[in-house]
Amino acid sequence: MKASLESGLITIKGGRPLRGEVIAQGSKNATLPIMAASLLLYNGKISLRNVPKLLDVHTMSELLISLGAKVDRDDHTMTIEIQDELAWEMPPSLVRKMRASSLVLGPLLARCGKVILPLPGGCAIGSRPMDLHFKGLSKMGAQITLDKGAVIAKANKLVGTRIYLDFPSVGATENLLMAAALADGETLIENAAREPEIDNLVRALRKMGAVIEGEGTGILRIKGKKELNPASITIIPDRIEAATYLLAGVITHGDVAIRGVIPEHLNALLAKLDEAGIEVINNGNVLRVLNPGRPNGITLKTMPYPGFSTDLQPQMMALLSLADGTSIIHETIFEARFLHASELQKMGAQIELQGNTAIVHGQENLIGAEVYATDLRGGAALVLAGLAAEGETTIYNVEHLKRGYENMVEKLTLIGAQIDERAAEVTKEDI
Ligand code: UD1
Repeated sequence: MKASLESGLITIKGGRPLRGEVIAQGSKNATLPIMAASLLLYNGKISLRNVPKLLDVHTMSELLISLGAKVDRDDHTMTIEIQDELAWEMPPSLVRKMRASSLVLGPLLARCGKVILPLPGGCAIGSRPMDLHFKGLSKMGAQITLDKGAVIAKANKLVGTRIYLDFPSVGATENLLMAAALADGETLIENAAREPEIDNLVRALRKMGAVIEGEGTGILRIKGKKELNPASITIIPDRIEAATYLLAGVITHGDVAIRGVIPEHLNALLAKLDEAGIEVINNGNVLRVLNPGRPNGITLKTMPYPGFSTDLQPQMMALLSLADGTSIIHETIFEARFLHASELQKMGAQIELQGNTAIVHGQENLIGAEVYATDLRGGAALVLAGLAAEGETTIYNVEHLKRGYENMVEKLTLIGAQIDERAAEVTKEDI
């Protein structure tokens, strides 16, 4: 593996209990689709509050700007202004940076009648990962074709219809929801995803004048409107970020409180921590762990919400590497989402992989090592492991963390972590 010069690294001197309070950032996965929803306007602004400062949010801003939107940011607020003309061809460089760029497809198609969406190399229509998006939009009357590695979607008019999702895909639900908001007539999305971020999008669309029922039930009913109106929208707290810092408290046996969370969004995590013998004090919008001991081994399966989030699986793997006993982790949402396991092994974790199952034999200690962040949440798992490990851990490729964690180093420093970040000075091969 090779770390590029720009990618940056983090060093952590582990083994000290973290103590203090962390305030949860706004949700990345709620912000991105709501930003995309601005494209449904013909003329006007949406204003967003509690917007996290993240690389993915920046990429979405660039994408919207490239399509003709005007985006203004001030600390954690953002306004997106749309005027009559929008471009409908998405720049490949931005689309390849972030899978969530595909969230622009539904609203842009509804608004402009045509979209060119470049696909990451090797991706074909009809197979993963966007077949459900295409199937749903086709059912609404779009023609979708593939030409030279790009999807071309066209629709003179989108017409409301009944769509059953073979799997409750978060992105497909969001794309179809946004497209349906401007479609002719009523759309029913069955087996829709029920993630809290979808509820935030529904509330945002409602504020823009859309008529939608059923959020959180798995069946969404949308009455299309000819036009939507400007609105002011608040982003919900980021449950994955909040949970990551809570787990930092658990893994270091510290005293950490996370403020500004919606505890119900973390019910599956709280249930699993309870099963592992970890007490979490739930006080309204504050979750706190107070000098917890070593967790017991547990069995865990990732599922669509309200099941256990795949976005917390890597962080839980780090914690369970230090459990008293053996844990079984079944990953059912994404293939090959165990890249972090081999990095954790470099730190002494005992993990056996069998397809989409990981068997984690808990150890008394982890030892600091040089490791690579393989992706956003995998990187977060390495940070947690580094905070708990004896000695120094160096994590390369920390750009991944900036996609989803605002000021992670500063936030952890404030609660007592010995953590530093710097640009990688040398290119490292095969660490
Ligand atoms: C969103 C989240 C991501 C989270 C994931 C699952 C955002 C920006 N990202 O991603 O953090 O991990 O939900 O909770 O909100 N699939 C298909 N065909 C499709 C669509 C999806 O086969 O048309 C498959 C995917 O390959 C994957 C699974 O369904 O295996 C889940 O994908 P999906 O729920 O769509 O996740 P995203 O929206 O990409």
